[in-house]
Amino acid sequence: MGLGSLRGVSDPSEHAARRRTFAIISHPDAGKTTLTEKFLLYAGALNDAGAVKAREGRRGATSDWMEMERKRGISISSTALSFEYRGLQFNLLDTPGHRDFSEDTYRVLAAVDSVVMVLDTAKGIEPQTLKLFEVCRQRSLPVITFLNKYDRPGREPLELLDEIESLIGLRPTPATWPVGRSGEFKGVIDRVGGDFTRFTRTVRGAQIAPEEIVPADRAAQEEGADWERSMDECGLLDAVGAEVDSESFLAGESTPVFVGSALTNFGVRHVLDALADLAPPALARPDAAGVPRPLDAGCSAFVFKVQANMDRAHRDRIAFVRVCSGEFERGMVLTNSRTGKPFATKYASQVFGAERSTVDSAHPGDVVGLVNATDLQIGDTLYVGDAVEFPPIPRFAPEVFATARPLDTGKYKQFRRGLDQLDTEGVVQVLRDPLAGDANPVLAAVGQLQFDVFADRLDIEFNAPSEVLPAPYEAIRYTDDASAARLREVGGIRILRRGDGRLVALFESRYRLQRLENDEPDLMLETIAVD
Ligand code: G4P
Repeated sequence: MGLGSLRGVSDPSEHAARRRTFAIISHPDAGKTTLTEKFLLYAGALNDAGAVKAREGRRGATSDWMEMERKRGISISSTALSFEYRGLQFNLLDTPGHRDFSEDTYRVLAAVDSVVMVLDTAKGIEPQTLKLFEVCRQRSLPVITFLNKYDRPGREPLELLDEIESLIGLRPTPATWPVGRSGEFKGVIDRVGGDFTRFTRTVRGAQIAPEEIVPADRAAQEEGADWERSMDECGLLDAVGAEVDSESFLAGESTPVFVGSALTNFGVRHVLDALADLAPPALARPDAAGVPRPLDAGCSAFVFKVQANMDRAHRDRIAFVRVCSGEFERGMVLTNSRTGKPFATKYASQVFGAERSTVDSAHPGDVVGLVNATDLQIGDTLYVGDAVEFPPIPRFAPEVFATARPLDTGKYKQFRRGLDQLDTEGVVQVLRDPLAGDANPVLAAVGQLQFDVFADRLDIEFNAPSEVLPAPYEAIRYTDDASAARLREVGGIRILRRGDGRLVALFESRYRLQRLENDEPDLMLETIAVD
């Protein structure tokens, strides 16, 4: 099958213009899965909502990864879902949603052109998820906001707008506004056209919610006090100039806000339409030097995620690439810009959970899973024609730390091999003591989940069952050789080297770090931001 066999389209720019490549980000339970499912329902890709969950239920025992997913009730495998809507191709990339965010979640953001941020109206922005939203802001990704679960009693939407502005620094610009207090949600006012869309619930929200477009004067008569209240609030929004503004949205500064309920399908179509009308298509991607690679140049793509052992029987390794220019054709031989070596793309697939289908062609904005990708690493650029190298995928400051050792000392060789491999793949960051080599490494990650995956893979793939225990570090900083000598004299600090050669200091106490920063300002202690 071809990704994007859109009728009558031939050149890469035209394909790119019809792509919407995005992710849905939310706090767990805010409704990401439900919204995904409803997108498919509205796009005509599902007849009956409920199938996505059923699919999840069906995977199961096909591999240990799947087993882990099942146990934890989360999706670890990256899901790249493609569907057509209004003649456009939507590519929805899944960001693993769980309290334990992993670096994979952030890496997906490097491969999308926009995001839909889903908030539970009753809860607003929850602390654990704030960082994810901040990363979007830092990367200037265009964000569309969906205030979900408005069918239930919740907080005032005006209050939520304030929260978005003050916590994330994104200026909210409501595109629709609700009629009927939360809990008695009737429909939305389109702030641009002024019409009222009245929704009707369907049983379990399994079918598209019938919509009636009601002109303002009739809506005023029929909805009475609810309408008046909404009009008052819209008046307030007009007064502060909160109009949807394409330019600042595309610059990642303002966010169009939609109110709705994924469960009952209210407002789902409006979000899809916003993705079609407002969200950016696939654009020429700047290379490492900042020069955009023309869309009609030779095929180019970069690896944003590597996943191994999805299927134990095959022991394979899939590299997920995002196509940036040209046309990808299965079987073509691409060059890896890091190694200069050729990579044959004989096995290319689209992956949905545990299910795969072969992809024969793909276009800018599309995601392809390359199977047997032993030589590919996160951040690698693949190309044909003029050489290109895209910027590296950002790394994020680790927040959790652990130590690891093989349970069977006879398996030390296997353990070391696994350590190297999983470090290169970016499963965890391995920090080694420059004075002690591979003994006593410290693992660093953004979330605990990464350690679980690490331990699982050491056991299954490298036959080195290991003990991974939490390590009591509270902070990490870059440092240099000169400062390291001094830091080694202080207790509760370890000096280690990251896989890319950078020296870091790990602190058992955040307080000690602060004191050192105050008392010895000459020490090189640099925060690891997104780099
Ligand atoms: P997630 O992927 O972000 O973790 O959230 P998910 O869609 O799984 O939704 C979490 C829960 O919230 C589910 O209920 C879901 O039905 C419910 N939900 C999602 N959207 C809405 C909405 O617009 N209104 C209301 N009232 N509820 C919503 P659950 O009981 O955990 O699961 P289920 O048994 O309903 O599947």
